[in-house]
Amino acid sequence: MTGLDLREETIFTWGAPPLKFGAGAADEVGFEMSAYGVRRVLIVTDSGVNALGAPARIADNLRRYKIEAEIFDGVHVEPTDDSMNKAVEYARAQGDWDGFVAVGGGSAIDTAKAINLLTSCSGELMDYINKPIGNARVPDGALKPMIAIPTTAGTGSESTAMCVLDILSMKVKTGISHWRLRPTLAVIDPLLTMTLPPTVTAASGMDIVCHAVESYTARWYTTFDRKQPEQRVTYCGSNPVSDLWCERAMELLARSFRTAVHKGAEDVEARSDMMMAATFAGMGFGNSGVHIPHANAYPIAGMVRDYVPAGYPPDEPMVPHGQSVSLTAPQAFRFSFESAPERHLRAAALLDPGAETLNDASEQLPSVLIKLMRDIDIPNGIGGVGYSESDVPDLVPGTMKQQRLLATCPKTPTEEDIADILTKSVQNW
Ligand SMILES: [Fe+2]
Repeated sequence: MTGLDLREETIFTWGAPPLKFGAGAADEVGFEMSAYGVRRVLIVTDSGVNALGAPARIADNLRRYKIEAEIFDGVHVEPTDDSMNKAVEYARAQGDWDGFVAVGGGSAIDTAKAINLLTSCSGELMDYINKPIGNARVPDGALKPMIAIPTTAGTGSESTAMCVLDILSMKVKTGISHWRLRPTLAVIDPLLTMTLPPTVTAASGMDIVCHAVESYTARWYTTFDRKQPEQRVTYCGSNPVSDLWCERAMELLARSFRTAVHKGAEDVEARSDMMMAATFAGMGFGNSGVHIPHANAYPIAGMVRDYVPAGYPPDEPMVPHGQSVSLTAPQAFRFSFESAPERHLRAAALLDPGAETLNDASEQLPSVLIKLMRDIDIPNGIGGVGYSESDVPDLVPGTMKQQRLLATCPKTPTEEDIADILTKSVQNW
């Protein structure tokens, strides 16, 4: 025998889609789709992205390869069960599709994943949603080929096996996660992000920062209970392969995040670095997982009252995902510091190599994050998006429902810990 204690986990898994990366890559989608032998493709996007013309250009490119292409632009930014069901109904009503192309941010890519799942397999949305909200049903077969083309540098949804949505009646964000949801190919073209406004670049960039840092500070994979092969999950904790991607993502963010926010319209190199950082972080957290900041983001976004961010669809209260994940990050990393001090310090050093060394080591990463958020105009804590201390008791249950994420933190928080993190995040500076 090996001498290993087989009650402890010894195995990690890592997966990612093939990539086509670089300026002009979006113009090669027809060629790529034709390789799968498909004849009829639905392009899934939102009306804002559609108005800028990229979906129409991609449809033309598909037609050049004799692939019939239609555009569905009804994606809701921050999708809901209602918006996803409508998108699925639309796709089902239009006959059989044999491939999908998602063009947009995480919302479009996630909606396309749901359409692909529910037009390839039997069942309805709620059947597949994570427990305890849904039944966490496993897809009964292969999904259709799907190419994901992100137009923001953030979610990393093009490389993950997860789709996130709001359940309107329960005012909670949840998701579906299964490896079959992962896109068949990610086509990443930095030219598609040149016109993103600074507020969107800042918010989606903070999503990348949180993916990389949460994944890097996640529980090490061997500290989980040993699983049987059929119990293996997409997110297995930090591991040697996801670490590599997260470290490199943080270096790219250090080099180009501020430039992409302030000079994004003209700086192709900064946009390219941000796209690469988003992809790399996606290859990290898409396998290891995220923890407290993302868990808190669910109620912060789901219970929004009247906060309307600049640069997003007007007249619609919402907290963009990248803002909602970053608002409690400094305090969450103060909380998790003692469980993995060297990883928190290494993340701070990668994100801001020039930062001065503080006497209190637990403040190093929070201070790097706060300096960055101030430089790029992220709202000041959950108070900046309309919450006060009196809202904390209402926010806590929404975080506690995200047990899968909370269990990924190396120091599992109690309800009181989460209340304390939210309270101390009302103002970050
Ligand atoms: Fe995220």
